[in-house]
Amino acid sequence: MEFEKRILVTGGAGFIGSHVVRRLVNFYPKYLIVNLDKLTYAGNLENLDDVLGHPNYRFEKTDIQSLEALKSVFERHAITDVIHLAAESHVDRSIDGPLEFVFTNVVGTVNLLEAARSAWSGSFENHVFHHVSTDEVYGSLGSSGFFTEATPYDPRSPYSASKASSDHFVNAYFHTYGLPIKISNCSNNYGSHHFPEKLIPLMINNILKEQALPVYGNGSNIRDWLWVEDHASAIDVIFHRGKVGESYNVGGLNEWTNLDLVHYLCDLMDRKLGRSEGASRELIRFVKDRAGHDQRYAIDASKLTQELGWSPSLRFEEGLEKTVDWYLSHPEWIEHVTSGAYQAYYQKFYQ
Ligand code: NAD
Ligand code: DAU
Repeated sequence: MEFEKRILVTGGAGFIGSHVVRRLVNFYPKYLIVNLDKLTYAGNLENLDDVLGHPNYRFEKTDIQSLEALKSVFERHAITDVIHLAAESHVDRSIDGPLEFVFTNVVGTVNLLEAARSAWSGSFENHVFHHVSTDEVYGSLGSSGFFTEATPYDPRSPYSASKASSDHFVNAYFHTYGLPIKISNCSNNYGSHHFPEKLIPLMINNILKEQALPVYGNGSNIRDWLWVEDHASAIDVIFHRGKVGESYNVGGLNEWTNLDLVHYLCDLMDRKLGRSEGASRELIRFVKDRAGHDQRYAIDASKLTQELGWSPSLRFEEGLEKTVDWYLSHPEWIEHVTSGAYQAYYQKFYQ
């Protein structure tokens, strides 16, 4: 079959990447979707069980730290476009060991830019390199204001510094070589298939198992939460209709303190599990704060809304209920990802 586009999605076995792959495979049968993933602890092909046999889907187990391997994938699949999500994504892990974040997020991104520049060197016309980034590159807000696309970069963790660096390289390839890039900077995602080291799935899993709920510091830090499928729809819109060379912020105007969010989850799950009122709140433990903990993130997504007509589809309360229901009906998924190496890491941080 002659495909209209042959899109390389990196990190497609991870949390957000799997939602992006599923959307593209199902919505665009005339596109070939090549999922490239190293399958680190965070990459899980079970996340894509439902698309594995599709005629427009391929998988390549490849490390973006290898330029040679990337060039070979570009050549074998005649890649026309890239949506780049592969990354080390967990802030706490970056504090424990920053180097892997440099190797994957910085060097890996530059490798991918080089592979695209080389594969498309005849003409950059009709190609797109979409880099998926984060609001954390902008640093930390006080009690007011929002991140816009014009906010100066001020990363403060090794993770956000590595993502900021990758964004700078992506922009440099646009200005220096004319590579047709687009960047999206999104706020915190939540939803199904979210690895339980991040706040929401960790709390759901621990509430379920009646284990301690570790809230960093006093729980007053604020995050701006967006349903993962709304992030995937934003990526779809920006990839197809965003302006080359530009950045777009993605977010849902949905700020919660960590403590309010944990309380909400406790109460929701107590109702669903038939536990007595307040039972899960008893599990909350205030633990040592994250080093350099950013106080508040809040995204102004008006550029994306006004220029490209995107808006979130779900209210947070609905999205959280769907998410909790997904975890309650997929105990085997939780079981598989919380065994082995993950357990050792978990104990190191929380015991
Ligand atoms: P994730 O950790 O769930 O998934 C990352 C994926 O990348 C995994 O499948 C992993 O195997 C793969 N990967 C890691 N190193 C690799 C390498 N060297 N080569 C190839 N594959 C590799 O991450 P996520 O939460 O789905 O985030 C995806 C992207 O979105 C990241 O770039 C992240 O910075 C960005 N982002 C995440 C959020 C969020 O809330 N999770 C918000 C905004 C932006
Ligand atoms: O803003 C986008 C970013 O959101 C993404 O770029 C990152 O990849 C993603 O991991 C996420 O980063 P955060 O650090 O905001 O997410 P995390 O789930 O690790 O933490 C959310 C908040 O909850 C943060 O203030 C720290 C706090 N926290 C986290 C954990 C895991 C706790 O209080 N207890 C916990 O056990």
